[in-house]
Amino acid sequence: MHIIVTESYDASAAFVADMIAELINKKPDCKLGLATGGTPVPIYKKLIGKNAAGEVDFAQVRTVNLDEYCGLAGDHDQSYRYFMDTNLFDHVNINKANTFVASGLGDPAANAAELDAKVAEGGPCDLQLLGIGNNGHIAFNEAGDCLKAESHIETLTESTIRANARFFEKEEDVPTTAITMGMKGILSAKCLVLVATGAAKADAIRQLVCGGEITTHNPSTFMKLHPNAWVVIDRALADAAGYKG
Ligand code: PGA
Repeated sequence: MHIIVTESYDASAAFVADMIAELINKKPDCKLGLATGGTPVPIYKKLIGKNAAGEVDFAQVRTVNLDEYCGLAGDHDQSYRYFMDTNLFDHVNINKANTFVASGLGDPAANAAELDAKVAEGGPCDLQLLGIGNNGHIAFNEAGDCLKAESHIETLTESTIRANARFFEKEEDVPTTAITMGMKGILSAKCLVLVATGAAKADAIRQLVCGGEITTHNPSTFMKLHPNAWVVIDRALADAAGYKG
């Protein structure tokens, strides 16, 4: 794994935005795996700025997102489709027909099958952007005794519901289930880029970057099996995690 320690979270966001822009410039019709949550927002802001400055062209870019809350329609302001539209897609010259966020409504099994079909369509993602939960989850593959290879419906843990409550009016409003890309879909990407900041992630990041253990109790550790995986953290988080590199 490539472990990059930056001076600040803004520098991490700049590093990752540059990586994505370079990929798009090299391969204009690349396929990006995208993530939601608080962490990617500054990365998307920088990509919007680069697109406005004519430094990167999204016209042919294809995207597939990691997950979506069950029970929320795409126009709900906490759905991940809405997040992607308002934080990135509405502000760059991407063709929205080439973007995919799984449906949180309708038949869960059919939605999961559709997500896996989109992950496979046209070949693997050139780059998969990842955040990490305080419990080590990636996408909504929650920490536990087992993980699932295929896309599926996941019951969110208390830790995840608590962490995501900040985006909702009250904790009871956070959906308790979500559709998520499975571990196989995530690991199928040609390049994985996990970005994290904040002391709440220190324990999860310690297990990821210090030592060689892989455990279903911290799904991010499966990144260690991937030949081209990057972890981008700022100095404050590296110190909190006890990373000495
Ligand atoms: P966050 O979420 O970026 O809002 O911290 C990350 C995650 O849960 O994967």
